[in-house]
Amino acid sequence: MSSSLKSLTGTGAVVTGGASGLGRAITEALAMAGASVALLDANGPAAQAAAAELVDSGCDVIGLQCDVTVPDSLSAAMATAAERFGGIRVVFANAGISAGPGPGSGGKSLLELDDENWDRVLAVNLSGVIRTARAALPYLIESGSGRLIITSSSAAIMPTLFVGHAYAASKAAVHHLTQYLAMELAEHKVLVNCLAPGPFETNIASGRLKQPDIAEQVAKSVPLGRIADPSEIGPVALLLASPDNGFMTGSLISIDGGTVAGNWSH
Ligand SMILES: NC(=O)c1ccc[n+]([C@@H]2O[C@H](COP(=O)([O-])OP(=O)(O)OC[C@H]3O[C@@H](n4cnc5c(N)ncnc54)[C@H](O)[C@@H]3O)[C@@H](O)[C@H]2O)c1
Repeated sequence: MSSSLKSLTGTGAVVTGGASGLGRAITEALAMAGASVALLDANGPAAQAAAAELVDSGCDVIGLQCDVTVPDSLSAAMATAAERFGGIRVVFANAGISAGPGPGSGGKSLLELDDENWDRVLAVNLSGVIRTARAALPYLIESGSGRLIITSSSAAIMPTLFVGHAYAASKAAVHHLTQYLAMELAEHKVLVNCLAPGPFETNIASGRLKQPDIAEQVAKSVPLGRIADPSEIGPVALLLASPDNGFMTGSLISIDGGTVAGNWSH
């Protein structure tokens, strides 16, 4: 038994929504551990810029424009990554968008629900995840030790009116999908787990959590009393990507400063 995780050198990895926030931090953690990473993002120039920064720090990273709601876009990006890296063993289905504030924080009530917004959020946060998984599956199976990690949210476990209806529902749905895919893909030795972050300071919701008044209010609901830096997701992402993690599948892992635990106990 070793006291540290194996290096990811030789591992091909893909991270969706990799140009910003948690996806950017996951990409960096994987690449610093030796993986070759394709960061996919709907924002092509941002993907290129994020990849260039990481290449400058010595990482093997490529940035590809890819919209997770478009199956052909996903297939093309997976094929490019697999060809460049000699396969794909790790995929983070991380891309996600906010539905705007919920009725508990000045957002729309049920009667004001915007159908277009509902459809768009479900398309990215739920359909985008299963389409990412489908496009990646042949490569994950071929690798012999595939790892699929989905990003959900503490809002999926703990209903909160702080987020919009479509966000809450889409994130709860990917929890169920994680467990469903864990069962379905077990025979192929593809392990499927889910990260459920609490508040992290990223660009989601137009960078709302970067506004001091909102950040202060949100931090009060976190037992650790603060909002996290995106880099804090790195160690957990590495564990889930590692071939050393061989028996954890279908797990929903909170990384939320105690948000869910604290609120359940009220
Ligand atoms: N930041 C938080 O507090 C928090 C909390 C819980 C869950 N999450 C989840 O973490 C994930 C990452 O969000 P973040 O906070 O880093 O946000 P972010 O806005 O900083 O980054 C998200 C990235 O996804 C990209 N993206 C959006 N739509 C896309 C699409 N259709 N196809 C490909 N890329 C797309 C964006 O261009 C952006 O670069 C999301 O699934 C989000 O729901 C975030």
